[in-house]
Amino acid sequence: MGGSELKRVPYHVGIIMDGNGRWARERGLPRLAGHRAGTENIRRVLEAAAEFGVKVLTLYAFSTENWARPLEEVQGLMRLLRENIDRQLPELHEKGVQIRHSGRLTGIDPELQERIRSAVELTKDNDRIILNVAFNYGGRAEILDAVRRLMEDGVRPDELTEELFSRYLYTGDLPDPDLIIRTGGEYRLSNFLLWQAAYAEYYATPTYWPDFDKEEFRKALEEYARRERRFGRVPTPES
Ligand code: FPP
Repeated sequence: MGGSELKRVPYHVGIIMDGNGRWARERGLPRLAGHRAGTENIRRVLEAAAEFGVKVLTLYAFSTENWARPLEEVQGLMRLLRENIDRQLPELHEKGVQIRHSGRLTGIDPELQERIRSAVELTKDNDRIILNVAFNYGGRAEILDAVRRLMEDGVRPDELTEELFSRYLYTGDLPDPDLIIRTGGEYRLSNFLLWQAAYAEYYATPTYWPDFDKEEFRKALEEYARRERRFGRVPTPES
């Protein structure tokens, strides 16, 4: 089943994948088992997104603040990412997935950095769907990094526009997200896509990330299709 019954499909969806820890605890499992289940779920949700007609999926996989978690959990998340690039890259590439990374590469283990770079390079011409992985990502850090690069490039104050600024963000030429979904029952943006989310619709569900399946995704897209987006303007008869 595709997305034909949805009358308006968001082009770019961002997801804050929360609730892995609680999913594991409720099953008497270690937190990492929750992250493993959460990682498995990425494949399902990515496939569902492509079937629904979403063109860009940005997933918040590891924030600049997540380094403060216990070392074992941080190392476990790094290992999961490494293993998943190794195991799934050929299939993702074959299925036409273009992989992008949003975040700082500095601070990540050099071997993992290299894997991320080569995954991005290998898949750069694919066009079925873009999987943008926000890893070692922080919205405020992203804004500061953009300002630093603008200054290094000698951009003059009167030359600066919102459009130019956007291009200096990690997300570069990607359009802003239309819909941001947060699983796990909280109502926070948690430093995710701060600049880009200015006009995004926000959808929160109590469902933990490992349980967020295609039907849950469909519910979020149905809710989005019912919303009226005004971008700060007053409604016009044709809108
Ligand atoms: C929140 O769950 C989730 C994360 C910290 C990151 C999301 C990570 C994945 C889905 C795994 C894929 C990521 C990599 C790096 C391969 P939580 O631990 O905050 O859950 P809780 O709020 O229930 O404790």
